[in-house]
Amino acid sequence: MDTSQLPLETSFEPYRQRRHLLIERMVNGGGGIAVIPTSAEKARNRDTHFPYRADSYFQYLTGFTEPEAVLVVVVGKAGVSSQSILFCREKNLEREIWDGFRHGPEGAREIFGFDEAHTVSEFDDKLAEMLPDQPVLWFSIGHDTGWDQRISAALNTVRGASRTGKRAPATIRDVRAELDSMRLVKDAAELATMRRVAAISTDAHIRAMRFTAPGRFEYEVEAELLHEFRRRGCEFPAYTSIVAGGANACVLHYVGNDQVLRDGDLLLIDAGGELNGYASDITRSFPVNGRFSGAQADVYQLVLEAQVAAIAAVRPSATFADPHDAALSVLVQGMIDLKLLQGSLNQAMEEESYKRFYMHRTSHWLGKDVHDAGEYKEGENWAPLTPGMVLTIEPGCYIRPADDVPEVFWNIGVRIEDDAVVTSMGCEIITAAAPKKIEDIEALMRDARGN
Ligand code: GLY
Ligand code: MN
Ligand code: MN
Repeated sequence: MDTSQLPLETSFEPYRQRRHLLIERMVNGGGGIAVIPTSAEKARNRDTHFPYRADSYFQYLTGFTEPEAVLVVVVGKAGVSSQSILFCREKNLEREIWDGFRHGPEGAREIFGFDEAHTVSEFDDKLAEMLPDQPVLWFSIGHDTGWDQRISAALNTVRGASRTGKRAPATIRDVRAELDSMRLVKDAAELATMRRVAAISTDAHIRAMRFTAPGRFEYEVEAELLHEFRRRGCEFPAYTSIVAGGANACVLHYVGNDQVLRDGDLLLIDAGGELNGYASDITRSFPVNGRFSGAQADVYQLVLEAQVAAIAAVRPSATFADPHDAALSVLVQGMIDLKLLQGSLNQAMEEESYKRFYMHRTSHWLGKDVHDAGEYKEGENWAPLTPGMVLTIEPGCYIRPADDVPEVFWNIGVRIEDDAVVTSMGCEIITAAAPKKIEDIEALMRDARGN
């Protein structure tokens, strides 16, 4: 049996542990009450909504994915008898006939392990009861104007009752600062999900590679990716897939995906699925006809060597910037060797002349968000890498036509992107199953054509 098709085992223990960790951090930050709403549903056009996706912070702490929900965490004295309280939509059999199942407060409390649960319509009244005399309010200030106003109104109500002896929290702190630093290091449950979505996404890339041929359209290849994501249980693509043939590969955020694929061009695919709210982020670049030309192979091999150097730089105690620096040295020397750049390595580095061909950085954090939460610096220094962090390694080279650039390289755009988990020894590339050596790509595409 293909067990990769079975639903993930769902335990709500990891969510409970994360709420406990948040409570510890709140205790260290003066105690108080945290209010963490999920995201709002968004209308797309008349009577149609964008597919709903729960807020990443809210999901991280609850596993609860219904809209119209709020998590409130109240820290007891010295952290003892702290409470996690969910506000969610009430059971409503009439609405459930139209829109589907709702847990309702009682069901949600039992299944997801909250201490208390109430209907979301009770939220404002309950908050007015809970807010007085809390030393600190933890909230995502500035994230959502509607929520900012709602929280301001609640605070003003308490302030307005000061003659009754009630005090509003004197301190308001951004709860995202704590949650971001928690989310930066993934726990075992998160890593298991990320490995699984990585496996689905590498298979999607292989499927797309096998399908690609001159005359097919970019959107047909995109459909192959989406088919594999959805077939294997992903809720969504983690971001709009980039399927960029020929010159389109030199447009970094190309999402038109509506052009025909031409014999002799490269195809750049940047795509990853999202599973249980966790993203994968993979790029492969390969020839539409299955055979790299000499110039394509030169640029591709250079980017691959830069990626290998960057991956070798991922290990505990290295910093976030080390993989980028490693990739950059290889790339810039290679650009000089290919006569894309003139002058010395030092000169190109100093003048940043390489930015014509490599204008983005090599990594970002990856997790629930494709550009995940977490600071990149500690004070003035780049963040040190520690086991459990997940980052992408994605060097590239994008060559637009220009008089001073050898014509043979015009419109070649290459990016190679993998997802790395920092381990105690170095790193684990969880997306390694998608071929990236020239001979492996060519062999796979030959095999797909049966020759
Ligand atoms: N797919 C988005 C990125 O690579 O950053
Ligand atoms: Mn990326
Ligand atoms: Mn990407």
